[in-house]
Amino acid sequence: MTQMKKEFPEGFMWGGAVAANQLEGAYREGGKGLSTADIHPNGIMFPPDESSERVNLYHDGIDFYHRYKEDLALFGEMGFKCFRTSIAWTRIFPNGDELEPNEEGLKFYDDLFDEMLKHKIEPVVTISHYEMPVGLVKTYGGWRSRKLIEFYDRYARTVMQRYKDKVKYWMTFNEINVILHAPYTGGGLVFEEGENRKNVMFQAAHHQFIASSLAVKACHEINPNAKIGCMIAALTTYPLTPDPDDVWAAFEADRKNLLFSDIQVRGYYPSYLKRHFIENDISIAMEPSDETILKQYTVDFIGLSYYMSSIATTDVEKAKNTTPGNLHLGGRNPYLKLTEWGWHIDPKGLRITLNQMYDRYQKPLFIVENGFGALDTIDEDGNIHDDARIEFLSAHIVQMKEAIADGVDLMGYTTWGPIDIVSASKAEMKKRYGFIYVDRDDEGKGTFNRIKKKSFDWYKNVIATNGEQL
Ligand code: BG6
Repeated sequence: MTQMKKEFPEGFMWGGAVAANQLEGAYREGGKGLSTADIHPNGIMFPPDESSERVNLYHDGIDFYHRYKEDLALFGEMGFKCFRTSIAWTRIFPNGDELEPNEEGLKFYDDLFDEMLKHKIEPVVTISHYEMPVGLVKTYGGWRSRKLIEFYDRYARTVMQRYKDKVKYWMTFNEINVILHAPYTGGGLVFEEGENRKNVMFQAAHHQFIASSLAVKACHEINPNAKIGCMIAALTTYPLTPDPDDVWAAFEADRKNLLFSDIQVRGYYPSYLKRHFIENDISIAMEPSDETILKQYTVDFIGLSYYMSSIATTDVEKAKNTTPGNLHLGGRNPYLKLTEWGWHIDPKGLRITLNQMYDRYQKPLFIVENGFGALDTIDEDGNIHDDARIEFLSAHIVQMKEAIADGVDLMGYTTWGPIDIVSASKAEMKKRYGFIYVDRDDEGKGTFNRIKKKSFDWYKNVIATNGEQL
């Protein structure tokens, strides 16, 4: 039997990924306005709470704003081909509805991208990652308002124009499907008593779809060589049993996420979603040109995050056996081990996800998040032996190779949090993903010093051998 060659293509984009609000800090410097992340100290699944007693770790992040040169030098040392970060909307338009951008904010990212390029690290930029100006929430109700399209368009065009010679890879919204799971984080949505929440969420999502399509248009106009993608949280779901009802439940759970890529990749609302709208009294206000905009400006690639798979069942008793996961509580899969945070560890699920997405769209895929959140401890000798992280990542990379051999067009892989940052779900520092440890704790104490973990040299070698040695 002939074995397929399992290797990564030349030019494969190895790197790491972060989000501005989880690491920059300096939340009131450089003319920055208040963002939604700045006022939800408890994490993305929770509503804003300006009176919380808890230290808001997002305010200082890991002080990347002042230390990015040191950090990029470390990424350069690891041989990163690319680095994914987001632009904080509030550094560019502090309140969101200004007509002119904040030059100091623009300058910060000029310097940041220059520094990346100095280390031969390609910037991959998310235009909006889990934060937006609080001003847009307070004055307009967040993405429930169609006005947001105009503000986002101005912001997106401003940054794409400014960095057109520095940034070739863009993504419009991080995990755009998050709006159905964490509506405040995903859309700046705060609900009124008694309103049809689903309607509000889908209306807000519609505005984001149009904004995203217009960003695709702008991107191609500004630099025809640039590529722009959507970004979906892949929350792949298996049926708990072969009972067709469970199989259908899993199918529907997947569609709840895939509907977002269906619209952004295919350019129209899928028929199953139209049925869902009718049966749930959801009615979306659209303008006559919306359908054309969606159809005309579809994305060039699909960015996705993959952390774990989930389980669906219609058996009410069995459904009570749950475990946490990215953005949701899912059914417990008895075949899989869990991380310390209860997330399933399922490398093969990545191969399944990549095949599922590629079969569906035949567009290049880019894994822009995957990682292992754990409690890392420093040994007496000052070292951090994060072998479990190495094991987790290498098992996932093996499955990526399989998927490539299956024929999937995979552009790259950026591990989540190559340096420890504030976690999104619970705003913790103790949940660490990095190859580089940061001395900062949940009480906001620590020196911010950086220490290389064991995985640092491991990942360096993975990149140097283009995934050959794991
Ligand atoms: C993704 C987000 O959902 O998961 C990131 O895009 C987030 O912002 C990551 O940090 C990991 O989640 P957490 O809660 O462990 O930080």
